[in-house]
Amino acid sequence: MQLPPHIENPQRLAPLMGRLWAPLAAVTTACNGKANAQIAVAIAAASIVPARPRIAVQIYKSNYTHQLIHASGILAVNFLRQDQLALIKQFGFVSGRDADKLAGVSYRQGATGSPILTQCWGYLDCRVVNAMDGGDMTCFLAEVLEGDTLSDDEPLSWRHARRLLPREWAEEWDRRIAAEIQVSLRRMDDVRHDPWQSPKRPVS
Ligand SMILES: Cc1cc2nc3c(=O)[nH]c(=O)nc-3n(C[C@H](O)[C@H](O)[C@H](O)COP(=O)(O)O)c2cc1C
Repeated sequence: MQLPPHIENPQRLAPLMGRLWAPLAAVTTACNGKANAQIAVAIAAASIVPARPRIAVQIYKSNYTHQLIHASGILAVNFLRQDQLALIKQFGFVSGRDADKLAGVSYRQGATGSPILTQCWGYLDCRVVNAMDGGDMTCFLAEVLEGDTLSDDEPLSWRHARRLLPREWAEEWDRRIAAEIQVSLRRMDDVRHDPWQSPKRPVS
């Protein structure tokens, strides 16, 4: 059996790959009355038409958020402010399968039905138009239906936030990402090519 290609010196690519991450965002969604939020950095602009903005958002299949976005066809991206470090742990270290992560968080329902955080750097409320399977994750192409920039400061980046994390959080993150990498290694070659079927009507 032919082995998939492996990079022999990934540390040489790390500074470059790290710069491709977007500012930290809480990706929110809702399906059949269940609302959830997770942290994501794998987000990119995916349209050149200012009045028809689109984004590409990569969500790992093991996440509860993936299940909800796949079933509902809706998501919102809420970029974090510099003073929202705590949300990294609240949304990014815990699964919505085990806790109501939005309990105690102020939000409203956006045009799509996804939660829009009252406090954030800016947000994009989106409907999924297509999705590409990546084995361990799905890349959702989503059109922006509504959004706003709410702050003049810089949004919170992972490069910056990583240095500010309390030591126990940083150690917990290192354990979590090491486990996730093992899951991805097992799943990432199992790429499916069947087309995305959008939900008949988005279900928030
Ligand atoms: C700094 C940081 C960046 C992350 N980036 C992503 C990402 O781009 N895509 C993704 O699917 N998960 C990402 N995660 C992981 C999810 O936020 C995490 O697994 C979360 O607990 C999933 O929650 P859920 O099961 O409620 O969906 C990131 C986590 C952190 C802390």
